[in-house]
Amino acid sequence: MAASVASAITPLFLRMTMQTLLAWFDEHARPLPWRIETVSPWESLLAEIILQQTRMETGIPYWERIRAAYPNPQSLAEDTEENLLHLWQGCGYYARARNLYKLAKTLDGEPLPKTYDELIQLPGIGPYTAAAVASISHGEPVACVDGNIRRVISRLRAEHMTDSQLNQEATALLNRTRSGDWNQAMMDLGSQICTPRNPKCQRCPIETDCLASKTEDPEHWPMRRTTKQQKVRAAVLVIDGSEGILLEAREGRTLGGLWGVPYAEGDVAKKQLLKGRRAEKIGSLRHDFTHKRLEVTVYTADAQDSDILRQPESVPLSTLDRKILSLYKAYQSEES
Ligand code: ADE
Repeated sequence: MAASVASAITPLFLRMTMQTLLAWFDEHARPLPWRIETVSPWESLLAEIILQQTRMETGIPYWERIRAAYPNPQSLAEDTEENLLHLWQGCGYYARARNLYKLAKTLDGEPLPKTYDELIQLPGIGPYTAAAVASISHGEPVACVDGNIRRVISRLRAEHMTDSQLNQEATALLNRTRSGDWNQAMMDLGSQICTPRNPKCQRCPIETDCLASKTEDPEHWPMRRTTKQQKVRAAVLVIDGSEGILLEAREGRTLGGLWGVPYAEGDVAKKQLLKGRRAEKIGSLRHDFTHKRLEVTVYTADAQDSDILRQPESVPLSTLDRKILSLYKAYQSEES
């Protein structure tokens, strides 16, 4: 790392920072379910995968549900991907569920490996997840870097850092005898104190060491990662009959494995979708994906004999499709 402020810090200074943060964690750790009861490495893995892209309050009920259904990797491998996606429904980023299923199949009845080096070989496990499970469940001295920790470290050093610099810093700071607690203390610090907006520096246990807190604008770090959202127009068609709704298996990275109403994008979306059916426009809605802002026009049409209808509860649906169906339900109740 070129001329980093970190290199000027003495080991004693570092040791004190560690002790102060761990003492704070011992007193203020959030009472998260996997801290209150002992959980298996598999359950810890499930939590880390869910929480990487889902907020804590939303993620915990998913974790409870999924760990109860699949207490070990084998129980998941013996079930279908569709059943897992059904439990995952509404949690978003479905590639995580598809990869988790692949992981369970890859293990093929073997237990989850213990070390960072082995964990990272598995489908869907990146450096963060491997480090979190290896340190929290097995005490391996490996540092995690998630969004919260990135923010804490960048502010501590008041530097915009590359991923590899952040990893080096996290490793230098890591308390190697309590690595799992250390990593979780950094996560809690980032989510509770060193928040993206209005960080609570007066309550921060390592404020004396933090360079950003001595500046006018601690929020200046880390550099914002802007994700450009593309605006896309789409059309969807709700075909309702006595047996249910016309639902298709979705494909692609975002919603692959889920089911949904017929959907098309772009200028010819409506024409492509209706294929000569007489349809009525019943409303529109917005939906955001990370890279896409959808403006969706919703149409309805009568079912034809060749349509295969399904009960929406019988298949996994995305949040977008559930929004579409609730708009359709509201339209139906207005009509009747
Ligand atoms: N976010 C993701 N995993 C976490 C954990 N183990 N503790 C606190 N926050 C987290």
